[in-house]
Amino acid sequence: MRGKSVLLIIGGGIAAYKSLELIRRLAERGVKTRAILTRAGEEFVTPLSVAALTGEKVFQDLFSLTDEAEMGHIQLSRSADLVVVAPATADLMAKMANGLANDLASTTLLATHKKVLMAPAMNVRMWQAASTQRNFETLKRDGVLFVGPEDGEMACGEFGPGRMAEPLEIVAAIERALALPGPLSGIRALVTAGPTQEPLDPVRFLANRSSGKQGYAIAEALARAGAETLLISGPVDIAPPSGVKLMRVTTAREMLAACEAALPADVAVMTAAVADWRPDIAANSKIKKNTDRVVPLIKLVENPDILATLGAHPRRPRLLIGFAAETENVVQNAVAKRKAKGADWIVANDVSGDVMGGDRNRVHIVSAKNGKDEPAEDWPDMTKTEVGARLAARIAQYLGHAA
Ligand code: CTP
Repeated sequence: MRGKSVLLIIGGGIAAYKSLELIRRLAERGVKTRAILTRAGEEFVTPLSVAALTGEKVFQDLFSLTDEAEMGHIQLSRSADLVVVAPATADLMAKMANGLANDLASTTLLATHKKVLMAPAMNVRMWQAASTQRNFETLKRDGVLFVGPEDGEMACGEFGPGRMAEPLEIVAAIERALALPGPLSGIRALVTAGPTQEPLDPVRFLANRSSGKQGYAIAEALARAGAETLLISGPVDIAPPSGVKLMRVTTAREMLAACEAALPADVAVMTAAVADWRPDIAANSKIKKNTDRVVPLIKLVENPDILATLGAHPRRPRLLIGFAAETENVVQNAVAKRKAKGADWIVANDVSGDVMGGDRNRVHIVSAKNGKDEPAEDWPDMTKTEVGARLAARIAQYLGHAA
């Protein structure tokens, strides 16, 4: 676990003092801790002692402008390998189980896509309350990991389950959580995204409206599922996804060279809107309007087809997935594209609406079994992030890596 980092949320409970020891134990093992201290947590331990032990500023307020400028709540959890809630109070569990987000801790828990480990600590009657038990079940179903609570004498004098696990036990649970493989661990994934730009001269180029959002969401979902992911991206204006190796290219020919250099890969998802043509000559200096007043004719030549090249490649990925941007006969055209380009699946999307640049997508999955076309799978309208997650799960299932 050396070199890993944990975001520790310290809730309000008498067990908060044990969290200080937890931070020390993690530091001994080379694990870096950043902490969020809730308002209630502050009643039990001081921000100063937490800061002294973590060696970092303690995060407390959702709307602190300097914190938002330095590091927003989304970034806070993204930069950690695991989110640990200790003590996890009944209140924090209830908030997370129900998706409430009204302070920094609950907002971070709602926004994170990292694994969350909770160490509950509360009075035995609070733990046994029907609502807490319901929340506990919901959280487990949502994939939250738990350590404790233990039976024992409690600070309030009662006896029973509710006591927070000891720091060393929490350390062991953290160790297990950090080692948990994702459904795509050991898989190498290649994703292309965005448009390509084809230069006409040093200041002009041909391009298209692709935003890259869908490809970035897919790369992030694959990485989250444990795949070693390389994203080869044309020029776009979005932040690099976390956990993904990003390589930027400009033209179709550069994208092809980068893809071939990245082989072998187990799975390749080609979402890029590659320019089909490029100007046959890219002038070295700016084409001037005033030289002879003749409107230049742009002659186009065909670009290489990256998907088709990979489809016929000696090191063809085991699973090759293309995208099809269509404005009519969506499925029919996608079926033809799958065969023509030697892809296993085509994710067809209807781009006649505001799909390009938007946050939602409606896709149809076209595939074949034993050389015979399968009926298209129609996915309902969903966010591009959801399309990414669902596609990553389908890929894991196909590669026999389902969780
Ligand atoms: N593609 C590619 N190289 C190209 C053109 C497209 O790799 N030069 C890939 C895209 O990344 C996508 C798939 O091929 O995965 C289909 O792209 P699309 O633009 O829908 O199809 P085209 O082949 O360009 O066909 P058309 O424009 O005629 O619909």
